[in-house]
Amino acid sequence: MMQGRKKVSVNDVIAMKGAEKISVLTAYDYSTSLICDRAGIDILLVGDSAGMVVLGYSSTAPVGMPEMAMFCGAVARGAKRAMIVGDMPFGSYQPNASVAVENAVQLVKAGCDAVKLEGGAEIIGTIKAIVDAGIPVMGHIGLKPQTSSLWEGYKLQGRTKESATKLVDDAMALEKAGVFSMVLEMVASEVADAITKGVSVPTIGIGSGLGCDGQVLVLHDMLGIYEDIRPKFVKRYAELSKSIFDAVSSYTREVKTGRFPGEPNTFHMSPEELDRFRKAKKK
Ligand code: KIV
Repeated sequence: MMQGRKKVSVNDVIAMKGAEKISVLTAYDYSTSLICDRAGIDILLVGDSAGMVVLGYSSTAPVGMPEMAMFCGAVARGAKRAMIVGDMPFGSYQPNASVAVENAVQLVKAGCDAVKLEGGAEIIGTIKAIVDAGIPVMGHIGLKPQTSSLWEGYKLQGRTKESATKLVDDAMALEKAGVFSMVLEMVASEVADAITKGVSVPTIGIGSGLGCDGQVLVLHDMLGIYEDIRPKFVKRYAELSKSIFDAVSSYTREVKTGRFPGEPNTFHMSPEELDRFRKAKKK
């Protein structure tokens, strides 16, 4: 495992292909970023999934640059070692390449080390422009939540020969455009394996099988906090929703019954000052 507290760089991530699996999780705030970083995560992706799991939208489409810049800044302040990748929200890179570069620069200024865009061959001009501006780009093909929600919904990608071939072509186009890695979301594992073998940069799978060079999950899914959608590919490593529910119920009960705050949670005046205070009150 990559040891030490040195910041994970683009070259480190590329060198991990075939040598060591890459662990990636989403993060949206300072406190969880700190914990994930200390636990040894390689990459923290400030995903626009924040729109669903933090902001309560039913898709990622409504998320804008101001929210993403704020989440990116908070995560960057929490992580010392992990690489921070900022997701470019829907509308921030579609208009044209110069808008995309401006917005990518904004995420770097907020603290990101790289940005991620959803799309294949149709956005390589935009990806090249961002890479030419000196900003590392992570690609994202397969299920593209920003637009899938507008078209067919969240479905497995690469089920037919045609769709599998298109995904392989997209992956090649992304590699040629200069991405340093690419997310493969909900891609049939056989296709993800073929892409992983066919490109020189690491693939980061989500619902795309064990063959990918790394794995990413949405933090709130794997911690069991987000309950609205439970994709089959998510393994729940904790059931925090239940823990939080139990803690809030206990707190409410103790406030109502006068058991909280107890003596350990209470501050006192010194006896001398208390005495002076009481005497003053009597006057
Ligand atoms: O927004 C996000 O969290 C993502 C991951 C699911 C890859 O794009």
